[in-house]
Amino acid sequence: MPILQPDQIYQLLRNLTSPVVAITSERGGTRNGMIADSAVRASIVPAIPRVSVYIHKFNYSHDLIFESGRFVLHLLRDDQFELIHRLGFASGRARDKLAGVPHRPGALGAPVLDDCYAHFECRVANVMDTGSSTCFLGDVVEVGHGAAGRAVGSVMTAGHFRANMPAEWRAEYEALLRAAQAHAAERSRDIQPVVWRGLKPQ
Ligand SMILES: Cc1cc2nc3c(=O)[nH]c(=O)nc-3n(C[C@H](O)[C@H](O)[C@H](O)COP(=O)(O)O)c2cc1C
Repeated sequence: MPILQPDQIYQLLRNLTSPVVAITSERGGTRNGMIADSAVRASIVPAIPRVSVYIHKFNYSHDLIFESGRFVLHLLRDDQFELIHRLGFASGRARDKLAGVPHRPGALGAPVLDDCYAHFECRVANVMDTGSSTCFLGDVVEVGHGAAGRAVGSVMTAGHFRANMPAEWRAEYEALLRAAQAHAAERSRDIQPVVWRGLKPQ
């Protein structure tokens, strides 16, 4: 059996990557958005729609979602490169990344982006600590399409994004990925028991 190097294993694991999604959140009047490619359907029951997504603890969105217990997951069209650059290459700690991005408050209060393939408003049902990130399990409570009112075009996949992002973004994308990997490598074995008891009374 050939011995695979860690980089080769990582490339194989990348086949398990989800579509590229935009995740928005809101806490006490502060709104934010980020990009993830770790979201999957987490229920086979049509009447109990659920998603799960892994969010690194160093991301601002992590704290907003953990402390508000809600998020909105948006499937994106395969031409929404600019939105991915805006939300996924810099943190919202220093600036409002949603300024200039048309959106409205959803039923749960978190921002729903007008332009997307579809959106799912989620209430956190449970969490799992991975050391470096939290896996959020979300109950989908509202669903909608983007401004077109129906699914238009194709969904942005991680492979499509990596293969077709503008060439001038690539070095930054790879540097951010390496930094996130280094951060995660330090913390991945420090798994804590976390019991999700729902939201603290405000
Ligand atoms: C294509 C792509 C996929 C990403 N996937 C994830 C992911 O699955 N989980 C995660 O925590 N961050 C992921 N990120 C990184 C965050 O989007 C990025 O760190 C962002 O700046 C976080 O913003 P925030 O600090 O405002 O929350 C991804 C970024 C890109 C461009």
